[in-house]
Parts: sequence; C-alpha cells; structure tokens
Amino acid sequence: MILLDGKIISDQIKAEIAKEIKKDFLDTGKPVPHLAAVLVGEDAASQTYVANKEKSCKEAGFTSSVYRYPENFTEKNLLEVVDFLNRDEDVDGFIVQLPLPKHISEQKIIERINPLKDVDGFHPANAGRMMLGLPAFLPATPFGIMTLLERYSIDTDGKHVVVLGRSNIVGTPVSLMLSRKAKTANATVTLCHSHTKNIKKYTLDADILIVAMGRQGFVTADMVKQDAVVVDVGIHRVPSKFAKSGFSLKGDVLFDEVSKKCSAITPVPGGVGPMTIVSLLMNTLKASKKEIR
Ligand code: GUN
Repeated sequence: MILLDGKIISDQIKAEIAKEIKKDFLDTGKPVPHLAAVLVGEDAASQTYVANKEKSCKEAGFTSSVYRYPENFTEKNLLEVVDFLNRDEDVDGFIVQLPLPKHISEQKIIERINPLKDVDGFHPANAGRMMLGLPAFLPATPFGIMTLLERYSIDTDGKHVVVLGRSNIVGTPVSLMLSRKAKTANATVTLCHSHTKNIKKYTLDADILIVAMGRQGFVTADMVKQDAVVVDVGIHRVPSKFAKSGFSLKGDVLFDEVSKKCSAITPVPGGVGPMTIVSLLMNTLKASKKEIR
C-alpha cells in the first residue's frame, strides 16, 4: 500500500517555488508574489487554515497579509474591503475565507472579487472557464488532488473514478477535471451525493474513490474494491484522550480498515490538506506572472 503523502509532495513543490522566487523575482528585483486573506469572525477551522497559509507563504518566499474583522462586520464593509484589494496593485491574489457569518451573502462577496485576483477559483468567471477547459484559477482542493495523483503517477486514463459529494468547492470541480480530455484525466466519472440510492454499488466499482462528503468515517472497508486508490478530503476534529490538544483529526474514510484493502490512500492529516495550501501558492504565483487573463 502506498501512502499518498501530501506533506512530502507539498514540501517538494514549496521548495520548487522558493527556487523560482529566488531566480525570477529576488535576483531580478521583481516584487515577490503577494497573497492576502480576509478573515471575518472567529471560526476555529478558518483560523487554522489562514495561519497555515501564512506559514506556507513564508516558506515559499511570498509576501502574505491577513485582514481580520469581527463577527459583526457588515456585508457593505466587506464589499468595500474586496474593492480595496481589487485595486491594490501590491496584492496579486486574495481569498475571503469561508464560511462567512450568516448575515453576509457569500455569493455576493465572491462575485465582487476581480477574477484575475481570485486565486480560490470561486468566481463564476473562473468556474465557467474551468468547465470549458480554458485557462483559469482552479479551486485549491481539486487542483491539489490532481497534483497529488500526478506526482504519484496514478493512472486515471479510462479508470472509473467515483466522487462522493457534489460541493462547489470540491466534488463538482474535481469530477469535471478528471473527466476532461487531458493528461491525468480521461477518467469515467460517477458523482454520488446525499440522494444517491445504494451508494455502495458505485463505490465497489471505483478504481479511484474520492471522498468529500463531510461525514466522519463514512467509508468503510466493505465499500471499497480491492486495490482501489482512495483520496480522503474530509477533516474532522474528534475528542481524543491521547492527543495533547485534546482532539485528533479524522477523515471521511475509516483509514485503519480501508488502508488494508487499497493500493494507495491519503492520510488525514497530511494528505489533501497540505496540497490545498500549496495549490493556493501555485495560483498566486500564476496571478503575479499574469498567466491567467
Ligand atoms: N473554506 C474551506 N475551504 C476553503 C477554501 O479553499 N477557500 C476559502 N476561501 N475558504 C475555505
């Protein structure tokens, strides 16, 4: 069984990016890529995500900045922050961390972001371009999954990929990316979701199973075909008396039993998570080089 180690691969990619930053930016006097993040409220997972993003920016040699606002920040004020970042020539790309407080329309905020700075790839212009196979900022988690499969030379051509979960952020875009006519794609994709009847019928036929249901331990060994490749996008904090912090991180897949049956699997933590962050760095590098127009 091969462990699809997102920590190792993301460290490799960060080192490759850092090298490029030195050669093409620092040595030539060009300003290094600048990624900004906007954080509203106190959501614990969001705080962790943004802290990790800052750390990764530092490792790769990027400039990073974080704009923090309280839970009661208004939608109007947040739209003004987006307008400010759209105009700020020092910022190459930015993200507005989701989820936002309930009184703010996420869609309204996303649609206000300049698509050329939308390194999350959430703006309809980028989502549409991605669907058509045009150059676009690809959403970080699906892009990270594709990169991980590619770096481990997992063959997707003609394979049956089953995706569990149809979110705009993961399930829907990854199913489109894997079904397109391209390298590390060309798969036959089945997208399952909460209304799928007899989900096991599909998962048992999957050569590659991508799980983004948001339900801890949903996938058990009896649902997985012998020697399948399993990608676990889930991340859940569960109480643990062994961990110093009082909790440990678990995925949507029951790792201990499923890992015995498959040919390759991502761990949680250390699988898809680090790949998501490094994808954001790759997008920011593209934004600073004006590669997506
Ligand atoms: N919340 C969970 N995942 C993401 C992500 O990739 N980007 C943003 N902006 N918010 C998130």
